[in-house]
Amino acid sequence: MNIIIFGPPGAGKGTQSKFIVNKFNLFQLSTGEFLRNEIKSKTELGVKIATIVNSGSLVSDDIVSKLIEKIIKKDEYKNRMIFDGYPRNLIQAENLKILLKRYDQHVSLVLKLSVSLKTIKKRITGRSVCLICGKIYNEFFNPAPTEANCCSPKYLQKRGDDTIDVAIKRYETYETTTAPLLEFYKKLNLLKVVDGEKPIDQIYKEISDIMVDIEG
Ligand code: AP5
Repeated sequence: MNIIIFGPPGAGKGTQSKFIVNKFNLFQLSTGEFLRNEIKSKTELGVKIATIVNSGSLVSDDIVSKLIEKIIKKDEYKNRMIFDGYPRNLIQAENLKILLKRYDQHVSLVLKLSVSLKTIKKRITGRSVCLICGKIYNEFFNPAPTEANCCSPKYLQKRGDDTIDVAIKRYETYETTTAPLLEFYKKLNLLKVVDGEKPIDQIYKEISDIMVDIEG
């Protein structure tokens, strides 16, 4: 099945996607991660993307659509994708519908993680990511292990857009541009809302139950 995981910055989309991918053998299509990889490669496009991402705005629909189609068209990912951070506006939602139809696929579920702005601020400013394995940690809620393994402090990195000012801008972008999409998916009867303030394992259990239910 294809799923969309939806929610404001810092809601836990990436954290939950990584668990779901393992349990349900899905592929995580995170537009944010793709864009950060492009930034790391320091191409001309990467430099342009960095300026936009670090300002808290959205990258152009055109750039993102090209990234998305490259993945959707692959047979190995057919009907087993989790869209993390896509779509982010109505144009992207319409585009996703067209692309999935083109490759004979559909969305089975849209999961929304609800969290308050107060929580978001702490989640974002406390976040670090392991450079080696990509695991996501948080100094307040979910600290990385201190012993010497791939997630030890020397491999942990902060994101360039994880400052408090940019986090607030990202939240505003979410509220004005992305949140209105909830109506779009509600009308299609695909939307399930999960309380994203709960502990990570409880949220994961709730999501798993929903997915098992849908799989029948
Ligand atoms: P993207 O990377 O998608 O960022 P985002 O949507 O702002 O979401 P985050 O990655 O910040 O948070 P998350 O919900 O994944 O939370 P996480 O699991 O890490 O996009 C970045 C930028 O790229 C955008 O601003 C935009 O510029 C651009 N972009 C991306 N997609 C685009 C698109 N489609 N179109 C145009 N531009 C696009 O968790 C956060 C922290 O909280 C972690 O530290 C984690 O350990 C902790 N945590 C998670 N869950 C819990 C919990 N239940 N309890 C306690 N702590 C928790």
